[in-house]
Amino acid sequence: MEWPNAMDPKPNILVVGSLNMDLVVRAAAMPKPGQTVLGERFVTAPGGKGANQAVAAARLGGHCAMIGRVGDDAFGLQLLDALGEEGVECTGVAATREAATGVALILVDRCGENSIVVAPGANALLTPDDIYSRCDLFDRAQVVVIQLEIPLPTVRAATTAARRHTRTLVLDPAPAPAAMPAELFQVDVLTPNAREAESITGQLAIEERVDKNVALDLIARGAQAAVLKLGPRGSLVVTADGQFARIPPYNVAVVDTTGAGDAFTAALAVGVARGSPLPEAALFATAAGALTCTRLGAQTAMPTVDEVRILMEDQPRGKGGGQ
Ligand code: RIB
Repeated sequence: MEWPNAMDPKPNILVVGSLNMDLVVRAAAMPKPGQTVLGERFVTAPGGKGANQAVAAARLGGHCAMIGRVGDDAFGLQLLDALGEEGVECTGVAATREAATGVALILVDRCGENSIVVAPGANALLTPDDIYSRCDLFDRAQVVVIQLEIPLPTVRAATTAARRHTRTLVLDPAPAPAAMPAELFQVDVLTPNAREAESITGQLAIEERVDKNVALDLIARGAQAAVLKLGPRGSLVVTADGQFARIPPYNVAVVDTTGAGDAFTAALAVGVARGSPLPEAALFATAAGALTCTRLGAQTAMPTVDEVRILMEDQPRGKGGGQ
């Protein structure tokens, strides 16, 4: 992997997606239905899959712009400030009086696993017109990244705009819908985790034998490439033109997995925008995702490009190619 130096131009990434305020409590274990458990300190922290990916892309060396919606309220202001501090361009993020800013209730257990409920609020009011009015941002982007925490018609508008104006379209199918519309498979790269891929294909990627079939299924449905986020098993790249690369995991001490998938997708987008072959971009993404697990929170945990470089140098893995 060629590391950027300060003189290199930053690749332009556009993220279309959600912004949430995360309301987080850690507890020894997740409560069972009907059970109350005592947790630790309550924390509010900026989140939302879209905003997390925008922050990660900026920290990893991209020039990032975002299209989204917040409420005209205190959480909305805090989320916009958080993006601004990271240098994310927010001219495409509008504040509405018609809904409150999205919030996510997040429980994190002793193993760092999370469970999340999102109240979309203003995210649900992001419209196709919000997309069509910002074709300039699509024109300029080398890579557009979209997730599924915004309304489906808006996702469709964004995929159409990306196909018309942008070089590469990455769709992170998270959260995975019960039935993914056929046209959403027509993207350059799909980046589901194992559970999301299971919702889409009906097959759970739990071991090497199954992973490749799951990825091939996504390709058979229309994706040019599938990059599976396999958590403690690393990641897997399969492309429609026959590339196959298994990326081993990086060894880290897991504190909180929230946002790791977002860091992964953002890093993949930055790698691709910089011209890296997909397996090399997936290696970078696997390291970025692993580092995110070492800290509490989503945006607060996103690594910088230097932190990723140090992890990759400490735990060399080749170039991310191979069988
Ligand atoms: O992927 C993690 C994110 O999912 C959280 O930040 C939460 O806001 C939800 O969108």
